Amino acid sequence: MIALAVMFSNWVICHNNQPAFKIEPDHDHFRRLIENKVVVYGHHTLDILPNHKPLKNCKNIILTHRRDLDIPDATIVTSVNELQFVLRNFEPDDVFLIGGTELFHELIDLCSRAILTIIQEDIETNSTSEFFPRLDQRPNWLPGRSSSTHFRDGHQFHQQRFINTNFRKHTSA
Ligand SMILES: NC(=O)c1ccc[n+]([C@@H]2O[C@H](COP(=O)([O-])OP(=O)(O)OC[C@H]3O[C@@H](n4cnc5c(N)ncnc54)[C@H](OP(=O)(O)O)[C@@H]3O)[C@@H](O)[C@H]2O)c1
Repeated sequence: MIALAVMFSNWVICHNNQPAFKIEPDHDHFRRLIENKVVVYGHHTLDILPNHKPLKNCKNIILTHRRDLDIPDATIVTSVNELQFVLRNFEPDDVFLIGGTELFHELIDLCSRAILTIIQEDIETNSTSEFFPRLDQRPNWLPGRSSSTHFRDGHQFHQQRFINTNFRKHTSA
């Protein structure tokens, strides 16, 4: 599984209830990566997807504790164990963890890699700020490839990959 997130340079992924990806101009990059792949996300993240619906052209797996939940075009799982069981049917590199904050913190060490789009601004934090796990402070995570800086819509951003060294076979990231 690969974590996919958009953040500011200081690891903020949501600020004043505004997810960082709403101002990230390169949605094409996100769409290209997840097309026909599996996306895993928490129940709350559904609320910030377009029309509050599962993403088109990919298999959506949503985590919730609510066993009664029925969401068209999505597979519901109610525990991490169940998620891992379902994911055995897919290639790990075809599975993307796309949020939200709770799920990133809970599942990050089950990911072999993280592909982070970084908006090169240190946004001022306040009590609403939500952070991605600090991979730069975790001994099992190492920085991988990073892209050149892109400029669009008044923002500078780049992609930075991180590799989970507990997954040795993915060190090419
Ligand atoms: N910048 C980015 O790239 C990005 C991307 C996505 C989201 N976000 C941000 O993330 C935030 C939303 O995230 P969030 O932390 O509020 O919620 P979330 O991670 O999307 O979902 C949390 C929910 O997932 C379910 N869940 C969590 N662990 C579970 C487990 N072990 N078993 C079963 N269900 C489990 C629970 O749902 P139930 O309550 O239904 O039981 C829980 O309330 C927003 O602020 C958004 O802006 C940022």
